[in-house]
Amino acid sequence: MPMEKVEDLFVHELKDIYYAEKHLEKALQTLATESHRPELKKAFDAHKAEKQEHVKRLERVFDEITVKAAGEPCDGVIGLSMEKKAFSKKNPSKEINDLFNINAAIKAERYEISAYESLSKMAKEMNLMDSSVLLEKNLKEEQRALEKMRQFAREADIKKLI
Ligand SMILES: [Fe+2]
Ligand SMILES: [Fe+2]
Repeated sequence: MPMEKVEDLFVHELKDIYYAEKHLEKALQTLATESHRPELKKAFDAHKAEKQEHVKRLERVFDEITVKAAGEPCDGVIGLSMEKKAFSKKNPSKEINDLFNINAAIKAERYEISAYESLSKMAKEMNLMDSSVLLEKNLKEEQRALEKMRQFAREADIKKLI
């Protein structure tokens, strides 16, 4: 049977981001461990702590639509982790490694932001008001995390590495 209802798309996207949040919690641990600048490690750790709250909020969204909370593999974030793994094998210097990690985090944040923008719009249209508030909260925190990473990117002394 073809999928025709936005409710089904919503569940699909919700399962995708539920998986992505859990996956990225582990990925942020890797980024924190494998970065050199202390402030950068701290930022990854702080965003990792927020992820636990994101997962709980998503579980409340599952509750509102009476669907059992479960993830569906998100190839988008799995792919980002594979890119990170492959890059690490190229033996980057500390500075180049940190720059890569900042950019990888920016890519992940933009993925999550796109997911939350569409989920929260669908929730509003479907009159899931509690869910839309919860999804907006996650969205705001992802936007802040993106801004933090963009700040690191702006401040990076690229010229020194040319
Ligand atoms: Fe995905
Ligand atoms: Fe994030």
